Amino acid sequence: MTLQVRDIDTFYGTSHILHGVSLDIADRELCAVLGRNGAGKTTLLRSITGVNPPADGSILLDGIEIAHLKSHRRAWLGVSYVPQGREIIPDITVAENIYLALLGKGRKGNKVPTFVFDYFPALKLVINQKGGTLSGGQQQQLAIARAMVQEPKLLLMDEPTEGLQPSVVEEIEPIIKRIPSERNCAVLLVEQNLDFVRAITQKFAILETGRIVASGDIGELTSDVVRKHLAV
Ligand SMILES: Nc1ncnc2c1ncn2[C@@H]1O[C@H](COP(=O)(O)OP(=O)(O)OP(=O)(O)O)[C@@H](O)[C@H]1O
Ligand SMILES: [Mg+2]
Repeated sequence: MTLQVRDIDTFYGTSHILHGVSLDIADRELCAVLGRNGAGKTTLLRSITGVNPPADGSILLDGIEIAHLKSHRRAWLGVSYVPQGREIIPDITVAENIYLALLGKGRKGNKVPTFVFDYFPALKLVINQKGGTLSGGQQQQLAIARAMVQEPKLLLMDEPTEGLQPSVVEEIEPIIKRIPSERNCAVLLVEQNLDFVRAITQKFAILETGRIVASGDIGELTSDVVRKHLAV
């Protein structure tokens, strides 16, 4: 599937956050959105999921206009979301967290699809444990698994490496890299970890105070670009 974000403007109340943001992702492509804290990265993802729909502009999923659809309709069309901070439900088991994600896609289920354990063998060992007992790395794996069982066409991930130890980041790096070709989807990733982004993505875009100020193939993410737009 392809995603075309065209000239969107998004507000929180009267605060104008995204200003004419455009972005293209091709089928099975992995694209990263970078930007300093508060740049509007999460707001962009929430505009695409429909949690915070844009006031203006267009979001085309395989050519279909979704900018004005409710969140659940977008989910049905194939948009899944791994939120910043993971949002694992702590008081139910890992398996039940996954069943809920299946339900969100209208699939009643009490079976965890086996491909989940192919990607995340560690989850098998904790499948009946409460979500809240998992380590940060395990919770991130569960958050990604939860989105993957919805068989997304577009997988959105908000800072998947945030708060994880470098060794844990190294573990999930090759896993995320496999997703677009093996699960047949496009991935839009918000990140602040440049090494991670360079290791797994093909394209990048940089947000600065709600505007795209640089974008291109990942090879064009030079240290000059980083200094200009990402240094704090
Ligand atoms: N619910 C909200 N109501 C009002 N303003 C908000 C709300 N959420 C975010 N903002 C503001 O919108 C701007 C963009 O926030 P956003 O969360 O999209 O940034 P971000 O790039 O994801 O930052 P971070 O790297 O810290 O996650 C910020 O100025 C923030 O204060
Ligand atoms: Mg954010």
